[in-house]
Amino acid sequence: MIYILNKKIIAILLCICICVASIIHMINNNNIFNNIDVFSNSPVEEDLYFPAFNVKIDKNDKIVALTFDDGPNSKYTEKILDYLESKNIVATFFVLGINLKGNNNILNRMVKIGCEIGNHGYNHQQLAFLKDKEITRQISYVDNYVRNATGFSIRAVRTPYGEKNNRIIKLINRPIVLWSIDSEDWILKDEKKIANKVLNEIDSGSIILLHDIFDFSYEATILIVESLLAQGYKFVTVSQMFDLESANTNGLVFRNK
Ligand code: NI
Repeated sequence: MIYILNKKIIAILLCICICVASIIHMINNNNIFNNIDVFSNSPVEEDLYFPAFNVKIDKNDKIVALTFDDGPNSKYTEKILDYLESKNIVATFFVLGINLKGNNNILNRMVKIGCEIGNHGYNHQQLAFLKDKEITRQISYVDNYVRNATGFSIRAVRTPYGEKNNRIIKLINRPIVLWSIDSEDWILKDEKKIANKVLNEIDSGSIILLHDIFDFSYEATILIVESLLAQGYKFVTVSQMFDLESANTNGLVFRNK
């Protein structure tokens, strides 16, 4: 009798355990589902499921990557290249497809002085709102143009506005390099303010976002470089910083933030 009772008690306890576990499971599932529901309203917000990849850079290394977006520009990119060459330092230029024709000499000069060319898409569209085929076209136009004009094969992609949802990352299937310091040059429009913003946030491994299409960005670049050189920083391209030639960087997002 006692034995049968024990068996019943065990069975009841088991039932209670299963019920409690089911309820907890349902509550959890419900929360996850709600989150997906909220975020999936915007294709841009899908990136919340793809955390950016941060590489630990040794503080003593004191390396930074200068990056310039939205060029090349016949006036300002040339001036920036002149300056970089005079200081014997390198940077990365995320170029737009629409600015490539007529600027082969600038692209070749970038490669010649050891700078890196990155891909910023054809015409700065928000990729999240484009169909797969169009995203591929945006990226491959720049890849092909630069390869034909210079022989350089682009590795790094910086999506316009730094968009990085699952679909974009899968389609591009290359390293996507964003930034850790936004100079906000196009908002601040003043070389001292731009330089101060960047220099206040600087750290080893910083990726600095500037645009080689404004005079104030060129002037700010000089202030930033002078200060960083005085502080003992070295300038590297994004491929040098993250070893992007390695195939296992495909599909990763770098931003060091
Ligand atoms: Ni841009």
